Amino acid sequence: MESTKPRLFSGMKPTGRLHFGNYFGALKQFVDLQDTHDSFIFIANLHALTGLPAKDKLMQDTHDLILDYLGAGLDPEKVTLFKQSDVLAHANLTWVFNNLVTVPYLMRAHAFKDAEAKKAEVNVGTFDYPVLMASDILLYNTDVVPVGKDQKQHVEYARDIAGKFNNQYGELFKLPKELILEEVEVIPGTDGQKMSKSYGNIIPLFGTDEEITKAVMGITTDSRGKDEEKNPDELVIYQIHKLFNGSEELKAQYTKGLGYGDAKKMLIKDIIDFVTPMRARRDYFAANPKLVQQILVEGAMKANDIAMKKIFDVYEAIGLTQ
Ligand code: AMP
Ligand code: TRP
Repeated sequence: MESTKPRLFSGMKPTGRLHFGNYFGALKQFVDLQDTHDSFIFIANLHALTGLPAKDKLMQDTHDLILDYLGAGLDPEKVTLFKQSDVLAHANLTWVFNNLVTVPYLMRAHAFKDAEAKKAEVNVGTFDYPVLMASDILLYNTDVVPVGKDQKQHVEYARDIAGKFNNQYGELFKLPKELILEEVEVIPGTDGQKMSKSYGNIIPLFGTDEEITKAVMGITTDSRGKDEEKNPDELVIYQIHKLFNGSEELKAQYTKGLGYGDAKKMLIKDIIDFVTPMRARRDYFAANPKLVQQILVEGAMKANDIAMKKIFDVYEAIGLTQ
């Protein structure tokens, strides 16, 4: 039976270990919304190809990401979990959309501009990334796309592309909306900049106690003493700590009377307590690879049902079926 809940679609690339920026910025929303939304969460492994990963690394990162999803609390009974490459229609729809978008339009994408600033010869996959992402979202009649702020433009592209198609060939696509929570739109890393693998400022989501300790000990602090009055919201350590403990007591402690050394010890404990149940779930699925395999196969079947229907409607609308 068709669900009456709003359709949610999102996912991440399998490109390495997740950090708390990914968790609080996006993954937590996937988990929090799984009861109220008809959710599809996928592994964007075709998008990962833009970085030309080695085969073994891509396979490992893909396996890790599904375990991270399950460990973080996505319930396969509630959410359709699948790999992008298991649904061929993503690439088919991308080819159709490629003809509706222009080169200058794609050249305005932030991600492309950043890539070009770093490297003169950007590959076509990187250039076309927003079109593949639009296909991901639009194949599933998506209402909302929970993401971090850096993905906002990509969802706007999806909306634009849906509008262009609808204008030209008739209303086949719903216009999706990004869902970005203001409080967590940019999670800071240990140096206060946006938490990002490329800045070396992450706290790993499924790191060992030692890795978490090392990362927290590296959080930037100033030289003010514990009894000097401070505005907690300006402290990197509090901006991170409040994600794990939003209580007024903690905030008051940071305002006055808490030394940074003690604050770091508390934060390490709070993070480890927070991830302990997630680690247990992740370990359970890691020890049951057949179950994980089955979750992905069932997810792919469900996703394919919807995506195939949509791509046939598209083919029909544009004159590819007689
Ligand atoms: P990435 O793999 O970096 O493209 O990110 C996967 C998801 O996590 C996307 O929805 C990002 O917007 C989100 N994300 C990544 N880093 C952060 C951060 N520091 N703060 C908030 N969201 C983030
Ligand atoms: N670009 C997203 C990221 O880097 C991953 C992604 C690909 C995605 N396709 C998507 C996210 C569709 C939401 C919806 O995180």
